[in-house]
Amino acid sequence: MILGEQIRLRAIEKEDLPKFVKWLNDPEIKHGLSMVMPLSLADEENWFEGLSKRHPCERPLAIEVQPDPQADEWIFIGNCSLSDINWQNRSAEVGIFIGEKGYWNQGFGTNTMRLIIKHGFENLNLHRVWLRVFETNQRAMRSYEKAGFTQEGKFRQAQYLDGKYVDVMIMGMLKSEWQTPQ
Ligand SMILES: CC(C)(COP(=O)(O)OP(=O)(O)OC[C@H]1O[C@@H](n2cnc3c(N)ncnc32)[C@H](O)[C@@H]1OP(=O)(O)O)[C@@H](O)C(=O)NCCC(=O)NCCS
Repeated sequence: MILGEQIRLRAIEKEDLPKFVKWLNDPEIKHGLSMVMPLSLADEENWFEGLSKRHPCERPLAIEVQPDPQADEWIFIGNCSLSDINWQNRSAEVGIFIGEKGYWNQGFGTNTMRLIIKHGFENLNLHRVWLRVFETNQRAMRSYEKAGFTQEGKFRQAQYLDGKYVDVMIMGMLKSEWQTPQ
């Protein structure tokens, strides 16, 4: 378990899969991700089986939040991951989605990012984390800026979305730029 303030990251369990199927078939959620085709429970079960073959540091993590700090209730709202870890360059790509849309725009995405980055820098000794985001995903870009990412460049017209090509923005953060939130 990776513990933050009102957020914790845990391993994904098989019981989580129906929620992923629901979330990842929601057009509003898929819009920010590179997912086009409908997803079945069998697809998710195959994905889950493959997780055990990944390096432990690259396995996605379930995001749980505690909306009321006084109550001992944790709600599973999405997932995040560090992937493509390059141990020579000490870099990793970070990804996130919150599937429970009622939890958008409350700072949970930003704080989850802060937590997984802290884990990457403090536990895995990474030097750089980076991400890709569609130029149309303004909520995500704002959230990443708040977490401390800066725009480094873009892949021009790299994503075909809603019948047109959009740029894929590259954002990154170096360990030297990272500060633990006060
Ligand atoms: C992207 C995502 C992780 C962000 O998490 P979140 O908890 O909703 O984000 P936060 O509340 O931390 O921050 C959102 C910020 O964007 C702002 N925002 C929301 N909609 C916006 C819009 N259309 N344009 C600009 N800013 C917007 C919010 O006001 C907030 O900024 P503020 O705190 O300065 O007011 C989450 O919305 C999500 O999972 N979306 C669906 C999947 C997805 O797109 N994943 C990212 C793929 S790269």
